[in-house]
Amino acid sequence: MIIITHDVHEQKRLGACIGKHITEKTVIFLDGELGSGKTTLTQGIGQGLKIEEVINSPTFTIAKQYFGDRELNHLDVYRLEGLDEDMGLEDYVYEDSVLVVEWSKFVDTSMFDEYLKIECEYCDEGRKVVLSAQGSSHEALLEKVKLCYI
Ligand SMILES: Nc1ncnc2c1ncn2[C@@H]1O[C@H](COP(=O)(O)OP(=O)(O)O)[C@@H](O)[C@H]1O
Ligand SMILES: [Mg+2]
Repeated sequence: MIIITHDVHEQKRLGACIGKHITEKTVIFLDGELGSGKTTLTQGIGQGLKIEEVINSPTFTIAKQYFGDRELNHLDVYRLEGLDEDMGLEDYVYEDSVLVVEWSKFVDTSMFDEYLKIECEYCDEGRKVVLSAQGSSHEALLEKVKLCYI
């Protein structure tokens, strides 16, 4: 699924569509160059999960935890580029929790066979967001996001 978002508000609205339709354990991998809208999308996911705390880039902490309708673990692994570090990502995923990983391409994600993969890119109109799903629950989520955003 490809969506063009024209400004920050649309990027957040897309994120909110994801957040509010999450009904079970969910893993979201976000990639795309610096400034492509990954954190903005995560802020929208937070809105959808009714998280009141401001979500920002957890650059200095790598991982930050938020609480709303469900627990959100937000990781930004940019600084782990090339370190071949085992983040133990699976430890961030438990019953009903949501894991969002910015720059997932820098860490090992092979232990997951169910996830939403989202690539953000710059384009003339704003941002091009390419979403795909692995596994039936994440596929179902993506279907709901499509209907919600349109
Ligand atoms: N769809 C969009 N169109 C235009 N600007 C956007 C869009 N989404 C986000 N931005 C802006 O791009 C900048 C970087 O966004 P951010 O989410 O921090 O990127 P990343 O986390 O990928 O580095 C912010 O100033 C944000 O307001
Ligand atoms: Mg970011």
